[in-house]
Amino acid sequence: MIFVDACFKKKTPYTPVWFMRQAGRYLSEYKEVRKQAGDFLSLCRNPKLASEVTLQPVEILNVDAAILFSDILVVPLEMGMDLGFYAGEGPKFKKPIESQNDLERLSDEAYKRLNYVYDTISLTRQNLAKDRALIGFCGAPWTLATYMIEGEGSKTYAKSKKTLYSNPQFLHAILEKVTHNLKHYLESQIQAGVNAVMVFDSWASALEENAYLEFGWKYCKQIASFIKRKYPHIPVILFPKGISGYLDRIDGEFDVFGVDWSTPLGIAKEKLGHKYALQGNLEPCRIYNEDSMLEGAREILELMKDSAHIFNLGHGMLPDLPRENAINLVEFIHNYR
Ligand code: CP3
Repeated sequence: MIFVDACFKKKTPYTPVWFMRQAGRYLSEYKEVRKQAGDFLSLCRNPKLASEVTLQPVEILNVDAAILFSDILVVPLEMGMDLGFYAGEGPKFKKPIESQNDLERLSDEAYKRLNYVYDTISLTRQNLAKDRALIGFCGAPWTLATYMIEGEGSKTYAKSKKTLYSNPQFLHAILEKVTHNLKHYLESQIQAGVNAVMVFDSWASALEENAYLEFGWKYCKQIASFIKRKYPHIPVILFPKGISGYLDRIDGEFDVFGVDWSTPLGIAKEKLGHKYALQGNLEPCRIYNEDSMLEGAREILELMKDSAHIFNLGHGMLPDLPRENAINLVEFIHNYR
């Protein structure tokens, strides 16, 4: 698989490409299946339909990898937190974690309740072309903890950070419990058939440098080491979003560093390119305009032409991006020499 080769810094005939959030509302085919499922969580819990939307972007865009269709929040959900997704408002937990008692009630064995994810994986792997990779994923402990503590998305992360500065042991206890669940969750995804795993730390940039290293990155590295020691043939991708100011402090046992759009790719290459393959980092909004999109893609491909690179966006696809441009982008990358 070209995607897996690139993750391991092997030479590939062209740069492999896939897009974060490549399954989603910008595809009418996705909206159709989502309607059939009823709501978003029912879609995640339906292996046949979830597998169908996992495969859609491979068929429509011709990307080199499919990413499992699910959500990072199914782990706290199956740890025992009541989760709802509301149109226009995003995800909400009915009862956020406030006390030691709330934490103790949560399960250490969420991974045993996520069979619908493993079924989606095996079904998808059966129907996906042999040369295309299937990527499994989870949210990073810090990013999941923000949802578990705030109860929903946040602009300030004030409750999570209040916990960090006034009761750091409690935040560590939450992060440890989540990390334990995530190690076994990713391991089960590998056993079900994924060819790579990615950890999304979408809210890394909410923390200052030392706080992120202690409460965020440390746990990402623990998950990565756990996987690498047991499954060295499975690439591990880490994506801590928005931490360009201290890339020289990034280390650990993993294969691919995901570069977000706000991080200059040249700096990431200089600081991390000798150790890790890099994935990224086209600003997603460039896809609104074909010329801007191709200009941005050309710049990235030129910069990375002698380095291990997987083309991706610097964050997820947006619901109203024009699919025709995304299709042309994949073709442009595959033909670029
Ligand atoms: O195509 C893929 O990338 C695979 C599927 C995927 C989804 N969510 C599907 C989804 C992945 C990898 C995620 C990860 C995820 N989920 C993250 C980390 C990545 C990132 O974007 O930073 C986060 C923070 C979440 C939490 C989450 N899920 C939010 C905040 C929302 C609501 C925002 C929105 O776009 O409505 C979701 C819902 C969600 N997850 C949708 C999809 C396709 C939209 C659901 C729908 O209405 O159909």
